[in-house]
Amino acid sequence: MIEKIQNRRAIIGVVGLGYVGLPFAVEKAKVGFQVIGIEQNPRRAGKINAGENYIADVKDEELRDLVDRGLIRAEEDFNSVPGMDVIVICVPTPLDKNLSPDLRYVINVTNEIARRLRPGQLISLESTTYPGTTEEVMLPILETSGLQVERDFFLCHSPERVDPGNRRYTTKNTNKVLGGVGPNSLAVGQAFYEQTIQHMVPVSSARAAELVKVFENTFRAVNIALVNELALLCDKMNLNVWEVLDAAFTKPFGIMPFYPGPGVGGHCIPLDPHYLEWKAREFNFTTRFIGLAGEVNRRMPEFVREKVVRTLNEMGKAPSRARILVIGMAYKKDLGDYRESPALKIAELLLQDGAELSYHDPYIEELHIAGQLYKSVPLAAETVQEADLVLIATDHSNIDYRWLVNQARRVLDTRNATRDVPSREEKVVLL
Ligand SMILES: NC(=O)c1ccc[n+]([C@@H]2O[C@H](COP(=O)([O-])OP(=O)(O)OC[C@H]3O[C@@H](n4cnc5c(N)ncnc54)[C@H](O)[C@@H]3O)[C@@H](O)[C@H]2O)c1
Repeated sequence: MIEKIQNRRAIIGVVGLGYVGLPFAVEKAKVGFQVIGIEQNPRRAGKINAGENYIADVKDEELRDLVDRGLIRAEEDFNSVPGMDVIVICVPTPLDKNLSPDLRYVINVTNEIARRLRPGQLISLESTTYPGTTEEVMLPILETSGLQVERDFFLCHSPERVDPGNRRYTTKNTNKVLGGVGPNSLAVGQAFYEQTIQHMVPVSSARAAELVKVFENTFRAVNIALVNELALLCDKMNLNVWEVLDAAFTKPFGIMPFYPGPGVGGHCIPLDPHYLEWKAREFNFTTRFIGLAGEVNRRMPEFVREKVVRTLNEMGKAPSRARILVIGMAYKKDLGDYRESPALKIAELLLQDGAELSYHDPYIEELHIAGQLYKSVPLAAETVQEADLVLIATDHSNIDYRWLVNQARRVLDTRNATRDVPSREEKVVLL
């Protein structure tokens, strides 16, 4: 198996061609592996087979070229599993309504693979999850095939660390953590990942690897909550939180920059820490930082709404008679991903207040807010001038903030996107 991997003759299966799976598939195909994607969404599978890209981190020409050369194709079922040597799972790991892990996707996929498992295969889970998923949930399902792990097949967890939109750190040059359910799994997994990853970080078990990833996301969630809490306090103390943080981050040691904002979004930071919180309960252990961080971060959209109402009030405007233009609906700048985006939650709250809402996002043509379809409005001078308030929810880089502030009557900036706009105090209210 290791030789097959090193000779690039191994056939790679990637289950779930989303933000994680598609860039991963492209990296493997680029070094000469034959990659078969299994993608249940027929629209996505069809696009891949037509050489059409839909993930910003993937280069259009690169994908088209790999599809044309027969190195990548997508299928909607699991029939090709027996022909694969390595199967990497990149499906969603959401939470249910009670903030408990919803492993439905991982379990479905594992069942499909178990029915077709054959000796010699390596299965690697990349989805973020709680410690124990690979060994306690996936392994028993895979062994219903009658095959035994470590002897007949190999099983690893290697959490994806991709930071969508990050141009400096990509799938290839980001160190990658890997844990196997035993030494053979680790050895085969390491041989596989080393083909495309510059630096591997092996750990002693799949559980350790799972904990590494949820800890990383918890670290971000907690630190973002800390600066968000500081923003709430600064609001009461009439201090500029951005000025305080910028000065604090000039200390060359013992501190690390994190910035406040309208809340947290995306598929990772709002969700993953709760996977760990849930698992900890099995050990009669309460992860207090995770609960607290979630609470503070989830409160931010409500705080932004409150600040909108206060700002409008100072202008003598009732929210129910105000026109509000939201800039940026994505959860993060320079991306079109709006999963769990705080901008959506703020928009819903403002609609409940009776405001007339429109949005501009260069990356999101249309979306549903509170069940109604909205289309991104062009950023024309009249559109900005007509709005009573411009609310910057996401700080996309390709927006001219100087121009925006110039045109606007009043701006509420939740990201400090207007930091370089001269004399902004006249019009701009900060978070
Ligand atoms: N997006 C990120 O920035 C990021 C970063 C690191 C880790 N992760 C983790 O990676 C995992 C995947 O996240 P994502 O953002 O790529 O999700 P995504 O929704 O973009 O992609 C998942 C894909 O899996 C497909 N899928 C679902 N069930 C399937 C099935 N049974 N068979 C075949 N395909 C199926 C979906 O149609 C979708 O295209 C999650 O666990 C996430 O937490 C995400």
